[in-house]
Amino acid sequence: SGAQVYNNCIGCHQANGSGVPGVFPPLAGHVPSILATRGGREWLIQVMLYGLQGPINVRGSSYNGAMPAYPQLSDAEIAAVLNHISTQWGNGFPSGQGPFTEAEVRAQRGKNLSPQQVLSARQGLGLR
Ligand code: HEM
Repeated sequence: SGAQVYNNCIGCHQANGSGVPGVFPPLAGHVPSILATRGGREWLIQVMLYGLQGPINVRGSSYNGAMPAYPQLSDAEIAAVLNHISTQWGNGFPSGQGPFTEAEVRAQRGKNLSPQQVLSARQGLGLR
């Protein structure tokens, strides 16, 4: 289940999704703002498959760390963990969006992105 896959994430993002201010960004109260951007769903899948590295700002705090890539997880596991972080801790999908599917994950494989390229793509989302 998504909760089981999320065990991989707890050490950094914490069981309650709060992250650690200035070190690991929160997922609680934040994932919906990514989902709401154009391309945000595909980008979240890319974070899982290719990682993310470099300076970002989340809910008023700065981060400059490295998020590990998880290409070893199956399409089903990545969809499940993204559905978990999209619906836990008061998070929810924006209206009109449904759960991540295995097909959506599969479509983002094989792009060979670097974590820095995933950072560049984040800047293109227009996150506020
Ligand atoms: C960033 C999810 C595991 C450290 C992120 C972001 C997401 C995410 C969605 C993007 C936030 C944003 O850019 O606004 C997850 C999930 C995990 C996981 C679902 C488990 C499958 C981890 C682990 C670590 C970690 C184990 C620590 C070793 C980070 C860091 C960032 C980040 C440092 C920000 C990177 C930067 O500063 O550019 N994570 N994460 N994550 N994650 Fe994770």
